[in-house]
Amino acid sequence: MAKFDHFNLISPLYDFVFGRRVDNEIVDLADTAEDQVVLDVGGGTGRVSLLFKEKVKNVIIADSSVNMLKEAQEKGLSIVNSNSECLPFPDESIHRVIMVDAFHHVKNQHDTIEEMWRVLKTDGFIIIEEPDINNFYVKLIAVGEKLLLMRSHFVSPSRIAEMGDFDGRAAVDITRSKGNAWIRIKKEKV
Ligand SMILES: C[S@@+](CC[C@H](N)C(=O)[O-])C[C@H]1O[C@@H](n2cnc3c(N)ncnc32)[C@H](O)[C@@H]1O
Repeated sequence: MAKFDHFNLISPLYDFVFGRRVDNEIVDLADTAEDQVVLDVGGGTGRVSLLFKEKVKNVIIADSSVNMLKEAQEKGLSIVNSNSECLPFPDESIHRVIMVDAFHHVKNQHDTIEEMWRVLKTDGFIIIEEPDINNFYVKLIAVGEKLLLMRSHFVSPSRIAEMGDFDGRAAVDITRSKGNAWIRIKKEKV
């Protein structure tokens, strides 16, 4: 039997509840060019991908929830039904890999970072936007998600930055604002 997925259930309401809460910080940090490809892992209904649609050659959402992806498809976005732990893209094929508000939801965080790193081109960025668990209100959200049996697992931004192997090629910076953190990991040349 297929495992229960909270996001399949809430997908029709997701944009109504969260759609207006869009933060442009990620667009600034991504610093994209027109000829680039952005992969939005755990991109859901495309709330964030839409910010990149007119800015880059292609933006693709990879998400495990079919119903969330249906919402994204209706917005004209490219979709792939895939788990973050096993992304169906070749090595070094993507300019920017982003993940917004999804890292605490994935089953295997280490494998997710490794996969995002594998598909990332040299000189590209991974940008993970996460609620900062050091913030008091985020701690309350974490308790709420536990009560809803969402299997969320929040880790600190500095722990996320150290989670991958990265072959000594990562240049990491962390930005924090209003309870959110952006962990940006650049893949340096060998
Ligand atoms: C809170 S939503 C965030 C959606 C979108 N990034 C946004 O900010 O609007 C989390 C998303 O992560 C997806 N997700 C959870 N675990 C995943 C996994 N292992 N692989 C891919 N997507 C996953 C869920 O299906 C859901 O769409």
